[in-house]
Amino acid sequence: ADGTGRTGAESGTDSRTDSTPFLPLSVHHHRPTMHPLSGWCLLLLFSMGVQGAPETPSAIPEHVHLSYPGEPGSMTVTWTTWVPARSEVQFGMQLSGPLPLRAQGTHTPFVDGGVQRRKLYIHRVTLRKLLPGVQYVYRCGSAQGWSHRFRFKALKKGVHWSPRLAVFGDMGADNAKALPRLRRDTQQGMYDAILHVGDFAYNMDQDNARVGDRFMQLIEPVAASLPYMTCPGNHEQRYNFSNYKARFSMPGDNEGLWYSWDLGPAHIISFSTEVYFFLQYGRHLVQKQFRWLENDLQKANKNRAARPWIITMGHRPMYCSNADLDDCTMYESKVRRGLRGKYGLEDLFYKHGVDLELWAHEHSYERLWPIYNYEVFNGSLHQPYTRPRGPVHIITGSAGCEERLTPFVIKPRPWSAVRVKEYGYTRMHILNGTHLHIQQVSDDQDGKIVDDFWLVRPLHGRMMYH
Ligand SMILES: [Fe+2]
Repeated sequence: ADGTGRTGAESGTDSRTDSTPFLPLSVHHHRPTMHPLSGWCLLLLFSMGVQGAPETPSAIPEHVHLSYPGEPGSMTVTWTTWVPARSEVQFGMQLSGPLPLRAQGTHTPFVDGGVQRRKLYIHRVTLRKLLPGVQYVYRCGSAQGWSHRFRFKALKKGVHWSPRLAVFGDMGADNAKALPRLRRDTQQGMYDAILHVGDFAYNMDQDNARVGDRFMQLIEPVAASLPYMTCPGNHEQRYNFSNYKARFSMPGDNEGLWYSWDLGPAHIISFSTEVYFFLQYGRHLVQKQFRWLENDLQKANKNRAARPWIITMGHRPMYCSNADLDDCTMYESKVRRGLRGKYGLEDLFYKHGVDLELWAHEHSYERLWPIYNYEVFNGSLHQPYTRPRGPVHIITGSAGCEERLTPFVIKPRPWSAVRVKEYGYTRMHILNGTHLHIQQVSDDQDGKIVDDFWLVRPLHGRMMYH
């Protein structure tokens, strides 16, 4: 019992339709058989535990989630309390009984930018020397209050294993359609990590950041068991992305705006498309990020024999065929071409032979043919994704939010291979250095796979496209 009852009851969204039995319901169910007073007492106790926690100052950890800090054999646990408290994680390999291992960290106060200036204490503890592939049990907190127990599997080491990920963007605190199935997938051990490609909660800053609290609590059953890796989207922009920067703990020293990490045979680069749009937070960030990307891609290519896949994730796509006026519908989109022809990412990613580019922002799923500068570069007529001669783009922003789905223009573009206007998320299986499998899961069709393809790139000539 990893506290799923509490989380579900608090969420107040579609996850209520999940089959998890909630504590308050079962209390109600048994009440007639008990003494009336004991029933009320229990109900009072539970309702205090369920509803009282966020507003009464408490040192009981909430919003527990994991992230991978980039160094093999480690995992970071992040959580929130409402009063200052020590930051400790107790962990071990036994499912029950005492947790013999200890790790300490720090907490930092986060003051939301809303009028109420709500104050959260964000705790970060990194566990190290974890045994690769081994399951751990942990709880976090302090003597003032402990979390429930959660489980996670330490990431395997090296390049010779086959990571499985769930990938999606644009998931809100309301209408989070993909979440119940993601929860079940997680409980079944289907993934090694989650990639959330920007746009959280809608919005984390709303209602003096209470919407952010609700969202973090909602994803806890997934994010406390799997590294939940992120990049910022446009919905995070308030107060200079402060909720995003404070609540997540991504690798590197750049508050999670851009970073990269290695996972099995892949090098994964996360970056901010938002630097091109919210120039009020610093024009220099466009250049700063571009230089970082260039440098990171150069390093990744030097290491390409060992880690052949280079995968990027950023929120706003370069291309899309949706029926709106977003940047990706423009011929010269900013992400693709940069600002006044400078710092465009298409040339950079093409030049360094990026294999796969993951995007979101459009609330739909779209797969592109291998593409560069509007030209389709399929490997061959019958095997377009085998030896592709340009990067492959996937836009997966249909996990569900209050803005619902985005329609497509009626006539697909010549570079568009598959379009799905249904709620869902993407499964990515990096089988080895040459084969990568992508599936799109539809939540509108009860988990049906609505797109399925293999990306195959032989090791030879992997650096650039010719
Ligand atoms: Fe967005």
